[in-house]
Amino acid sequence: MSPPDPSISKWTRNITVVLNGERRSVTVDVRTTLLDLLREQLHLTGTKKGCNQGECGACTVHLDGRRVNGCLVLAVQADGREVTTIEGLARDGELTTVQRAFIDHDGLQCGFCTPGQVMSATACIAEGHTRGEAEIREWMSGNLCRCACYPQIVEAVRAAARKAEVP
Ligand code: FES
Ligand code: FES
Repeated sequence: MSPPDPSISKWTRNITVVLNGERRSVTVDVRTTLLDLLREQLHLTGTKKGCNQGECGACTVHLDGRRVNGCLVLAVQADGREVTTIEGLARDGELTTVQRAFIDHDGLQCGFCTPGQVMSATACIAEGHTRGEAEIREWMSGNLCRCACYPQIVEAVRAAARKAEVP
């Protein structure tokens, strides 16, 4: 029998995730959140830590295509699943329709808020929750900031949703 790997303790697990389309295997402390795994271990700092308690949405990422707050998900819960971060949206240097719409409609918040807003908007459109301003506001309400910009973000979501409907 091979000796136990000293780097593996009862507090660690090996997990594999498909991260932005690439298979990654990592050893994580079982108490590590998905947000901390992304930022601290994998150095993907586009996903932001705002409140770290599920209130602001700055840490929004997609887990198997659905949005989650990375600060409320343990890294081990992502084992065997697909994780997409803001770094994984644009492909080959091409911004997505949602990213482009945020620029075109000036839906920009600070660097802390914008990545989460874009991730949430992308999922909101994919979910089809874009039938009017009230619905967009409701389904984007998990992303907060103390500043303005909400009207432009709603416009950006509407515009991107309209483009998504075009075959
Ligand atoms: S950092 Fe996760 S919701 Fe605020
Ligand atoms: S705190 Fe980020 S835009 Fe308001």
